[in-house]
Amino acid sequence: RLLIIDFGSQVTQLIARRLRELDVYCEIHPYQSVSEGFLTEFAPRAVILSGGPCSVLDADSPRPPARLFEMGVPVLGICYGQQVMMQMLGGEVHRGDGTAEFGRAHVVPAEERIELLTGWFLDPREQVWMSHGDHVARLAPGFRVYATSPGAPFAVLADLERDFYAVQFHPEVHHTPNGRTLLQNFVKRAGFTGDWTMAAYRDEAIARIREQVGDAKVICGLSGGVDSSVAAVLIHEAIGEQLTCVFVDHGLLRHNEAEEVVTMFRDHYNIPLIHADEADLFLDELDGVSDPETKRKTIGRLFIDVFQKHADTIEGAAFLAQGTLYPDVIESVSFAGGPSVTIKSHHNVGGLPEKMGLKLLEPLRELFKDEVRALGRELGLPDSFIGRHPFPGPGLAIRCPGEITREKLDILRRADAVYIDQIRKHGLYDEIWQAFVAILPVRTVGVMGDSRTYDFACALRAVTSVDGMTADFYPFSHDFLGETATRIINEVRGINRVTYDITSKPPGTIEWE
Ligand code: XMP
Repeated sequence: RLLIIDFGSQVTQLIARRLRELDVYCEIHPYQSVSEGFLTEFAPRAVILSGGPCSVLDADSPRPPARLFEMGVPVLGICYGQQVMMQMLGGEVHRGDGTAEFGRAHVVPAEERIELLTGWFLDPREQVWMSHGDHVARLAPGFRVYATSPGAPFAVLADLERDFYAVQFHPEVHHTPNGRTLLQNFVKRAGFTGDWTMAAYRDEAIARIREQVGDAKVICGLSGGVDSSVAAVLIHEAIGEQLTCVFVDHGLLRHNEAEEVVTMFRDHYNIPLIHADEADLFLDELDGVSDPETKRKTIGRLFIDVFQKHADTIEGAAFLAQGTLYPDVIESVSFAGGPSVTIKSHHNVGGLPEKMGLKLLEPLRELFKDEVRALGRELGLPDSFIGRHPFPGPGLAIRCPGEITREKLDILRRADAVYIDQIRKHGLYDEIWQAFVAILPVRTVGVMGDSRTYDFACALRAVTSVDGMTADFYPFSHDFLGETATRIINEVRGINRVTYDITSKPPGTIEWE
């Protein structure tokens, strides 16, 4: 396995992602926990030193143990990692003096070509992504330059004898289009054959959970979504009955959703599950509330209360499991320092662990959404479940602008079920990021048979997106829209008008509230 020593770069996780795409198993460990003893025990076949925000010229700047360079394994230093290598191996690093580079840059090769850059320079120059202030000023003994850029004369360095490589740019990001090839060359050089699989990851993850949890008890909040479900099944495989799931049913779920979740987890997987059926509590509290933020905050607050009430009945629980993914981690890190405007109060159980004195267990923290899906498949979760569209924590409440009533929720559920059925029947479900119906707070006049109707209007929403941050409306055919509208009006009493929402995000958001 390969060890990535993390010096705090925002993109360290992308190194792991790229390596996993190459079917190489790797682990990221923060530099603080990488001691000499750790290195010996871990026995990496190769090591990558990540970038980081510090300057090697500062007192106490982070470093790997010197023993790393005596282990006889290939090492690749990226950005800060490059500078640390130079500093520790006898070179020199200077502070940025106007030669700093941020963003896109181009590198050209030196005369001699090396294996690390096989596949590079098919064009005379390669685009790379730089982000550095300091720069290498003198090479450490044994190193030579193999590529340069205007701002970084030492863009690619190597000591071929010892298999040490150091690059000033970030090969792990998308803006270094050929970066993956460079990483591939490095791992090949280190003897990896790309035989790692999701099955192996699952085994590793299970071993880690067992080690972290010991014989303690774990509570997992289940939402019915993919992430918390995969986390729950994985943890259950690791520690069996030490896990109890709490499923807070706020009465704002889709048609049949609560039953499906309960059946799947309790009956199919045999996972101890508390079904907290608190629809009345939530709907009573939401009675008369029409302001979107008040809705979100009310649901968030009640959710925490209810969750805690049920979790308190599980004696001796020491961990709270969450399906946190890597993008959640990056977002919370990068937003922590700077001001950010609250567009919507997102619903989660943040703050709960401290309040309840529980430690966090986040077994999916290193994974991206598509990897979680692959892991879910590996764990035997049905494809239809794994491919489900995202569903927001506050549920149907934010698809029901204006006041929420039980009648409107009921109509909304039925219309939504018809719409999704239509999308599945036409084979479009997997092309769409998210699709749902919103019930509008207006009644309009219609005519059915010979009678006048005065019913609700609804809006269909369907968007394409890669991460939910930006989105475009889905270009359904007019035939599809017409057929769907007819079905909804015929099959769902209470709706007599159907519209299609053609707003992109931005300026719209995906949900209506
Ligand atoms: P918006 O509406 O902000 O939604 O464009 C982006 C994505 O986030 C989902 N969403 C939420 N998910 N808790 C969640 O877990 C929330 O409070 C929440 N609000 C929106 C939304 O469904 C879409 O996928």
